[in-house]
Amino acid sequence: MEEQTSSNFNKVVWENDRRHFVHPWTHFDSFQEEGSLIMSRAKGVYTYDADGNRYLDGVGGLWCMNVGYGRDEIVDAIAEQARTLAYANPFVDVSNAPAAQLTAKLAELAPGDLNRVMLTCGGSTANDSMLRLVHFYWGCKGEKSRKKIITRRGSYHGSTYITQSMTGKPADRMPEFQYDTDMIVYVSEPNAYRPPEGVADDEFEQWLIDKFRDTVEQTGPENIAAHFAEPILGAGGVVVPPARYIKETRDICRQYGILYIADEVVTGFGRVGAWFASLDIMGIQPDGIVSAKGLTSGYQPLGAAIFSDGIYDVIAEAGQDRWFTNGYTYAGHPVACAAALKNIEIMERENLPAYVKDDIGPYFMQQLQTLSDLPTVGDVRGMYLMACVVNVANKDTREEFPHEINIGKRISNAAEKLGLLVRPVGNLNVLSPPLTITRQEVDELVSKLRQAIVTVCDDLANEGISLDS
Ligand SMILES: Cc1ncc(COP(=O)(O)O)c(C=O)c1O
Repeated sequence: MEEQTSSNFNKVVWENDRRHFVHPWTHFDSFQEEGSLIMSRAKGVYTYDADGNRYLDGVGGLWCMNVGYGRDEIVDAIAEQARTLAYANPFVDVSNAPAAQLTAKLAELAPGDLNRVMLTCGGSTANDSMLRLVHFYWGCKGEKSRKKIITRRGSYHGSTYITQSMTGKPADRMPEFQYDTDMIVYVSEPNAYRPPEGVADDEFEQWLIDKFRDTVEQTGPENIAAHFAEPILGAGGVVVPPARYIKETRDICRQYGILYIADEVVTGFGRVGAWFASLDIMGIQPDGIVSAKGLTSGYQPLGAAIFSDGIYDVIAEAGQDRWFTNGYTYAGHPVACAAALKNIEIMERENLPAYVKDDIGPYFMQQLQTLSDLPTVGDVRGMYLMACVVNVANKDTREEFPHEINIGKRISNAAEKLGLLVRPVGNLNVLSPPLTITRQEVDELVSKLRQAIVTVCDDLANEGISLDS
């Protein structure tokens, strides 16, 4: 009887979701037909659907579940804070202890003199706030023509109206939307697997650097406010830019006085073996870092735009008797900040960034590389716990599967049936498991992914689609 009731409830939930919840990135045809997989609970690296089926969460929520599910300590910190002070107005000159403590902690963790922090509701709003800060800064410095923002093709910076314009992923462009292509200037995608026609593999890095410099010079440095760049492009397909390109583009920005903002929404908080990737992994000191996701491990929505004392000093001095009109009702939300503080405490105590860098990250990448023998796996790329499998129709020519094959989604569907969540992004499958994943769980992940790819390859062969490798 009880089972009957719970099964009815699950059906009601599924139907309500299908009818009323317009999801981010809704694909209307398939959604109307198939609805959603409703998740109901989770522990460690495993998540369970409403019917009790277990999945190894290879996506870590959405690149955000860093310390793993079901951490009672974070739950208690959230409950305690909600009970004590559920909300405090953050505008102008009222604050709360968790927000003050968290911003101090972020200043300690961020490299160099990145000691000033704006708190927001997530990654998009943190990028949006950072962009406004950058404009305000140049205005205060008297260089009012510096408005343009350089971003990369293939990048993802969020889903507010301006961060969608900053985003350079062609697949996300909708003809119905309007993009600000005047303010945003795009540079090439630093994807070594797909250099442009006519550029040899070994010339690609220098080509990228030259193109970056050309773009700066043609746009006019006096018109450029900042370059926003992900240390590793995430939603664009886990593209790890070549190392010298990162350093030299940073140098070019410094040479022309352009602010360098690292969008570390995914790469921050241990995912690539450091609190932040910019200095410790990529070897560059940015002027600002944008963070979200792993900041709370997804236990609460929160974003942070962390910037230098140098920027702060300019706006504080020149901005006297003026308002910096930027911020949100939920900026510095005490409950979200309490969750972030506890999350960071756990990461410090369990030494999770070092575990990722010295142990589980290399093991994960090594095991994932074993999939390279499969007929559709053209590339396995990434760093530490941020990875992606590139599926191709022909491994020699790197030819892509036609769109209608929907290879990434087919593989993720097959993996789901085996109890593994992997994220399809076009022809790719993206992985970013919780940082707490064990070697045994990595083995399970890789073995299930292999099985899923083999199943899809067999299905394709049965459908008469040849795999030319
Ligand atoms: C690099 C990067 N920046 C910004 C965002 C936007 O963050 P949010 O979805 O929390 O607004 C994302 C989200 O995936 C991201 O990957």
